[in-house]
Amino acid sequence: MKGYKKLRIIDKKEWGSGYFSLFFKDYEISDSVFPGNFFMIKDSSLRSPVILPRPFSIARVFKDKGVFEIFFQVVGRGTGMFSKLKEGDILEILGPLGNNFPVETTKKIVMVAGGRGISPFLYLSKIVEEKGMDYILIYGGKSKEDVRFVSYLNSEKTIFVTEDGGFGEKGLVTEFLPKGNFLILTCGPEIMMKKIYEFYKDTETEVYVSLEERMACGTGVCYGCAKKIRTEDGTKMVRVCQQGPVFNAKEIIWDE
Ligand SMILES: Cc1cc2nc3c(=O)[nH]c(=O)nc-3n(C[C@H](O)[C@H](O)[C@H](O)COP(=O)(O)OP(=O)(O)OC[C@H]3O[C@@H](n4cnc5c(N)ncnc54)[C@H](O)[C@@H]3O)c2cc1C
Ligand code: FES
Repeated sequence: MKGYKKLRIIDKKEWGSGYFSLFFKDYEISDSVFPGNFFMIKDSSLRSPVILPRPFSIARVFKDKGVFEIFFQVVGRGTGMFSKLKEGDILEILGPLGNNFPVETTKKIVMVAGGRGISPFLYLSKIVEEKGMDYILIYGGKSKEDVRFVSYLNSEKTIFVTEDGGFGEKGLVTEFLPKGNFLILTCGPEIMMKKIYEFYKDTETEVYVSLEERMACGTGVCYGCAKKIRTEDGTKMVRVCQQGPVFNAKEIIWDE
């Protein structure tokens, strides 16, 4: 992995309700990135009051154009600052980093996304579709405003769910989990991922989760993302940015 690259924002989309996308052009990144990977992104210009980089998943990739997207929700200072940037501004980007979602399987893949957790499944759903693999995507949020990319996603393969019933099915994504033997890939609030793990834990279905740990370096140096995980003979400490962010759900100590 090389160092930070200075990349220009070539496009920006404001989705409303605090959701934004930023687009960058870089063939090397677009060719090598895989869903689950993430980037550390910082703004080292004088305009920025935020010093540490922030982690963001890869969202869509338009490989033929060398363009990739990050999709984020404003939750604090860093994301607030990124949301104010405009086309032409330059950010520093490190990555792709981390591991990725496993897709080598003969089973049907079920992707489950909550809110901004849709990011990795935008590109992944296109990859598995191109490979002719069997999959569905269950994608939910609190209300209509939390469910985006509706026209981009394959409507025949996607179950949209909102808690208030304002769009798609009414309820929680966890109420739409299918019974059977699948490969489950999930990203979103921890409570959602925990419920999904519990739903399948006594079955043959394997569940993989992407963790949103706080990260300062993203490269294994600072130990800021250290987390205890379960192993066959006890527990061990891992750095989520190195061994993750994607883990088998049975490795996670959910009640800590
Ligand atoms: C591997 C990875 C991929 C991610 N991908 C995306 C993505 O694609 N889109 C997206 O919107 N966000 C993503 N996140 C989360 C994103 O990094 C945080 O929302 C962001 O760093 C918050 O920065 P801030 O300065 O705006 O918030 P801060 O001012 O630092 O914090 C604001 C609030 O958010 C909470 N918070 C901050 N960081 C995290 C975190 N990592 N996990 C949980 N809570 C946090 C804080 O506790 C606080 O309550 C990802 C995180 C990781 C680790
Ligand atoms: S963020 Fe520094 S070690 Fe993981």
